[in-house]
Amino acid sequence: MNFKIKIPSTVICFILLPVVMAACCTAAEPALKDVFAKDFLIGGALNGNQIYGNSPGEAAIITKHFNTITPENVLKWAGVHPEPDRYDFDPADKYVELGQKNKMFIVGHTLVWHNQTPKWVFENADGSSMDREALLKRMKDHIFAVAGRYKGRINGWDVVNEAVDGDGQLRKTKWLEIIGEDYIAKAFEYAHEADPDAELYYNDYDMWKKDHWKGVIRLVKDLQAKGLRVDGIGVQGHWGFDYPVLDEIEESIVAFSELGVKVMITELDLTVLPSGWKDRGADITKSYELQEKLNPYADGLPAELSQKQADRYSEFFSLFHKHRDKIGRVTFWGVQDGNSWRNGWPVRGRTDYPLLFDRDCKPKPAFDAVIKVVQKDK
Ligand code: GLA
Repeated sequence: MNFKIKIPSTVICFILLPVVMAACCTAAEPALKDVFAKDFLIGGALNGNQIYGNSPGEAAIITKHFNTITPENVLKWAGVHPEPDRYDFDPADKYVELGQKNKMFIVGHTLVWHNQTPKWVFENADGSSMDREALLKRMKDHIFAVAGRYKGRINGWDVVNEAVDGDGQLRKTKWLEIIGEDYIAKAFEYAHEADPDAELYYNDYDMWKKDHWKGVIRLVKDLQAKGLRVDGIGVQGHWGFDYPVLDEIEESIVAFSELGVKVMITELDLTVLPSGWKDRGADITKSYELQEKLNPYADGLPAELSQKQADRYSEFFSLFHKHRDKIGRVTFWGVQDGNSWRNGWPVRGRTDYPLLFDRDCKPKPAFDAVIKVVQKDK
């Protein structure tokens, strides 16, 4: 007998569309992770949509180009532990599954931070301020619950994020105020106990500023002197056209590596927009002048700026490549321009172009420039 099943062509289109879209987005360009295979890992920070695989174009970039991933938000305290007795592990479980399925180096971000940490963390049930012992216990329970759950699966943790201030002193946070200076050592101690095989990192921004990075050096030396293992220092790379000065960032990369730790560029993106700091919180929809001043490329990025960005990315990657013996990983903070946090911070509703892939998930001139760095150095 000969059965013929007729499938309507609309159904076939529906099934094939994601495959075709994914293929278009990654057409013929080489994979970043292959190009830098001998140098360092290459990764990106994933948002919830990407973790759940809701965008085929982004999924194609992630699996083709990255061999390491970091969660943008789902493992921050507010995301994973929103209420005292409630953990929300579902997105983080999916994130870890995605990394394991694709054999990626999976980063956990972040266990102890002053931001995106709910107010209740520092309070007793009656709203009064916690004391040192109670907060240490809460920190330990959180680290054991989160790092413990992914023991052997998350390969490295940003244990503490942004604990040093611009002047090199410890940032005035609730952690410092209630526990005291050893809260950082305690976080490293607990993270190590929760998963002895996971790598442990300290992560921070403005790392090219001398006072700041000298403060980080003092902190890491102090942790090492206490016998704690620090495997890496994360240099957040939220950079622009005129900062950091390359010599300055190079000096800090070299100084960090002299501590015997890996250096990692953890949150790389390169804004093309004018600084929004003075107009932080401004509503750009309110006036044409504000739009012109703060959001000049809403209709597209002019070719010369795109080239300027490519040149700047080339400078950064030439530096990373030169120091590839010290650098373990370069992670972009996002996947494609459209969903970068830079579009919303420090002014909401702008159109920025900070990454290597555009809003259609196509590689930009900056992508080609980054690839050429390796070809040039060969
Ligand atoms: C810091 C944090 C990141 C992220 C960025 C902005 O760099 O480490 O998790 O919040 O700010 O998105």
